[in-house]
Amino acid sequence: MEEAWNYTLWSILIISITLVWLKKDGYKRSKLPPGPRGWPVIGNVFDLENGISLHRGLAALKQEYGPVVWLNLGSVNIMVILSATAAEELFKNHDLSFVDRFNNHTMASHDYYKSSMALGAYSVYWRVLRRICTVELFSNRRISEQVLVRKKCVDSLLLWIENEVEKGANCEIEVMSFVFPTAFNLIGNLTLSRDLMHPHSEMASEFYTALSGFAECIGLPNISDLFPWLRWLDLQGLRKRMDKDLGKAMQIVSGFVDERVKQWQHEEGRATEQRDFLDVLLHFEGNGKDEPAKLSRHQITIFLLDMFIAGTDTTSATTEWAMCELLQNPESMKTIKAELGRVVGANKKLDESDIDNLPYLRAVVEETLRLHAPAPLTLPRKAVQDTNFMGYFIPKDTQVLVNAWAIGRDEETWEDALSFKPERFLESSIGYRRQKSEYIPFGAGRRICPGLPLANHTLPLILGSLLHSFDWELGTEIDLTETTGTAARLLKPLKAVPKRKTT
Ligand code: HEM
Repeated sequence: MEEAWNYTLWSILIISITLVWLKKDGYKRSKLPPGPRGWPVIGNVFDLENGISLHRGLAALKQEYGPVVWLNLGSVNIMVILSATAAEELFKNHDLSFVDRFNNHTMASHDYYKSSMALGAYSVYWRVLRRICTVELFSNRRISEQVLVRKKCVDSLLLWIENEVEKGANCEIEVMSFVFPTAFNLIGNLTLSRDLMHPHSEMASEFYTALSGFAECIGLPNISDLFPWLRWLDLQGLRKRMDKDLGKAMQIVSGFVDERVKQWQHEEGRATEQRDFLDVLLHFEGNGKDEPAKLSRHQITIFLLDMFIAGTDTTSATTEWAMCELLQNPESMKTIKAELGRVVGANKKLDESDIDNLPYLRAVVEETLRLHAPAPLTLPRKAVQDTNFMGYFIPKDTQVLVNAWAIGRDEETWEDALSFKPERFLESSIGYRRQKSEYIPFGAGRRICPGLPLANHTLPLILGSLLHSFDWELGTEIDLTETTGTAARLLKPLKAVPKRKTT
């Protein structure tokens, strides 16, 4: 009898706890942001239009579900931010709650994200790396000291194109084949004090192939991310490809590190004032308590790779998009060429000091970044804890995607949002240096792009130099289909014909 009584009491207790838990869970579920109802297990996999980029598919959800959308892709919970107001709320009031990065399975390759600043968790190690690159690469002082390096890289770019022009009339080039090595060499010179490639070098193509493979692996949806229990099968072979491509890129970069270490052994130490970024990393001394005492070779290789990956594709894709827009908008092309002619002078090369007097050039860069944010979903963030966000319950570990691309094209904020109109930035209080949520091509908050001050100098310099030194015509064909990986760029590289200037 007593046994039966105990049994009944235990049953009542368990049922009550379960009901309370279910009620609480149901309450939490009812407090999730709106979104398309998903299928069991696979969630919303079929709610994103096939064949278009993820940022476009996600942007389309705003009309039905509003500016904060909830999705499940397999076992991954995703919150998507689609308006300036929601982005403002996130970055201003909840930045710390969503400050970690969400990494997919491919980024675990070679333990990349563990040593990466761009993909790493918000931690003391992240703060150390962020401080090093801010002070050693992107501070006002460093940016001013780098003027000659930027000039050298852009001079080489102009020379490469001049050589193509020499080959004869109507010589069509792929703009990306010239701009990518320039952006790459720029990072090479800033971090390792050396040029690394020219448009026809074997290493250029090897590195480019490795980085393109890397970018493709990141950009493709991966079944292993949706269903982690299937990871071991690597059904699409993406992890295997990533291991190979990232391995190749790491091998190239660690080769540079090895060379430097050997050089140090022969040179008996270099004067402190001659030290470059790599030297700083090799000689880093942390407090050894919460900070690492030294950076390992693996950590240095990945940190350098972070700079190349984050800084090269974004810069070259923006330049290619700007050329693409200008070639399709002859009035804007005319205006920018006239401004360059007036301010720089017909027979002089663009100098970085001219840029402050070239508002239309700056406006073209801003307008290009508005329409073609190279990181359309910024970099995925992750909820560090359960968070109450705009009245919704967002569980810990939710992936957060801020759609900078959709926000830049939002008709509620931008008049004639889909047209290329650099003029809109001439008198505007919005711009990437002014930190407003309507316009966030560099992200915002604690994880905002640290390379912004460098890009702010590099983008107008490269674009302005290309436009001022040559006249340009559209090549034989143009295909505006885009692809995403480490940056959203044209799937088929833009072809254009550089010509000697007529005026
Ligand atoms: C057109 C130029 C560029 C654009 C549009 C761009 C955009 C971005 C965006 C959207 C993020 C994510 C921000 C966030 O999570 O809120 C980011 C992060 C980052 N960018 Fe850039 N970027 C550019 C150039 C560069 C350059 C030149 C470098 C370095 C050489 C660089 C290094 C980084 C790094 C290291 C991060 C990770 C920061 C962190 O997680 O703490 N970027 N960038």
